[in-house]
Amino acid sequence: MRDNINISLDTSYIKEIISSESFEKYLNESKGILEPIICSYKDDKEKVLGWMDIDKLQEEELIKKIEAKAKEIRENADVFIVVGVGGSNGGSRAAIEALYKGEDPKIIYMGNNLSPNYINHMLKKIKGKSIYINVIAKNFETLEPGLGFRILRSYMESVYSKEEMSKRIITTGTIGERLYKLSIEEGYTFLPFPVEVGGRYSVLSSVGLMPIAVSGISIREMLSGAKALKEHFESISYDKNEAFIYATLRNYLSERDVDIEILSYFEHGLRYFGKWWVQLFGESEGKDNKGLFPSSCNYSEDLHAMGQYIQSGKRNLMETFIDVIENNVDIDVPKSNIEDKFDYLNSFTVDGINRCAYEGTIEAHKDGGVSIVNINISKLNAYSLGQLFYWFEISCYASGKLLGVNPFDQMGVENYKKRMFERLGK
Ligand code: PA5
Repeated sequence: MRDNINISLDTSYIKEIISSESFEKYLNESKGILEPIICSYKDDKEKVLGWMDIDKLQEEELIKKIEAKAKEIRENADVFIVVGVGGSNGGSRAAIEALYKGEDPKIIYMGNNLSPNYINHMLKKIKGKSIYINVIAKNFETLEPGLGFRILRSYMESVYSKEEMSKRIITTGTIGERLYKLSIEEGYTFLPFPVEVGGRYSVLSSVGLMPIAVSGISIREMLSGAKALKEHFESISYDKNEAFIYATLRNYLSERDVDIEILSYFEHGLRYFGKWWVQLFGESEGKDNKGLFPSSCNYSEDLHAMGQYIQSGKRNLMETFIDVIENNVDIDVPKSNIEDKFDYLNSFTVDGINRCAYEGTIEAHKDGGVSIVNINISKLNAYSLGQLFYWFEISCYASGKLLGVNPFDQMGVENYKKRMFERLGK
C-alpha cells in the first residue's frame, strides 16, 4: 500500500483467473469505458457525478456549518434521530456503526421502515429525552421519511415550543423543493442535498456527513482519506486502478458462471457497511435482467448459517472479503480455573482467533469453488472508511458502465410504489 492509501485489492486467491490471457484481453477491451471515468465528473452533463468531486463536497463553509451544528447537538441532545431511507441514511449508518465509540448522543434511525412496532419502540425510547432530528430526503415524496417526520413533528410539538423545534430540526434536501420551503417557513437548519449526487452515492456529502459528525467521527479525516484516493486514481493508468480491476473481474465472472457476490467480513462493526454495499450495487446494477445479486455475510456468525450454502450450495458465487489488517483493540483470552476444554486458546488473543477463523474460511471457501478476492484496509478509522466508501463508489460506477446499465437511476423501484400509492389513494 502507498503511504496515504489504506486500501488494496488482493487477487492472489484467483491468480489463475487474473493472469489468464482471457482476463487480460477482457481488461484491455474495457479500456474505452474505464479510462474516461476518473475525470468524467468534470463534464457531468447528466448531473450524477457530484460525489466524485471531493473538493466540492468539502467546501469549508459547509463543513464548518455541519461541525458547529454537530457540536450543539452533542452538547444538548440525549438522542439524535436520523430520518431517511435507502441512500439517505445508509451511508451514515454504515460509518457510525463501524466507528461509534458509544458516546452520547445515542443515534437512532426512523423513516426507514413502516413497522408500527418499530416506530412505537422508538417513540418509547425518546420519551422524556432531549432530541434533535435530521430529516434527509432528496425527493421529499418518499413515504417512509415523510411519515417518520410527521410522527416525530407531532411528538415534538407536544414537548417543545416552535422556537425550540426550529433549533432541533435539521433538514437535508433539494434546494427549491418542498422540504426546503418548509425549512425556510419553519426556521429549520437546512443543508443542501447536492443535485449531482444520488442517494446511494451520498455518504461523503452533507447527507452522510451531518449524522456522522454528530457521532463524533472526524468528517475531515473521512474526506481527506477519500481525497487522497481520488488523487491516487488520477495519477495511475486504468489497468493499475484496483477499483477498476475489481469492477472488471465482477463482470468477467458474471459472464461466466457467477450470479451472486457476497461481501464478507470478520469485523462486526462492518455489518451496516455490508448493507450500504448491497444497496449500492443492487440498486445501481440490477437492471435490464442483468447484474450480480449482492448480499453480505457477517462472520463468524454467518458461518453458522450461510457458511453451509457458501461451502456446498449451488456453485455460482464470488466472495469479496474486507480484511481489517490491524485491529484497534485486542483482548487476551483469560485462563480458566475449571476444565472447559478451551485451553487450546490460552496463547491467543481474540483478534488472533478471529484471524484464524478468517484464514480458515478463505481456504475452505476456495476449496469449495468460490471465487475469492480480498480488499484489505490497514485500520478501521475515519480516514480508511472514507477511502473504502469512495473505492466502492468508483468501482460500482465502473462496473455498471461495463455491464451496460445506468448505475445512477432506479426506475425499477417505481413499480411497487405505484401499486402502493394506488392503494393509499395518492
Ligand atoms: O439511492 C437512491 O437514490 C435511493 O435509494 C434513495 O436514496 C432513496 O429512495 C431515498 O430517496 P429520498 O432521499 O428521495 O427520500
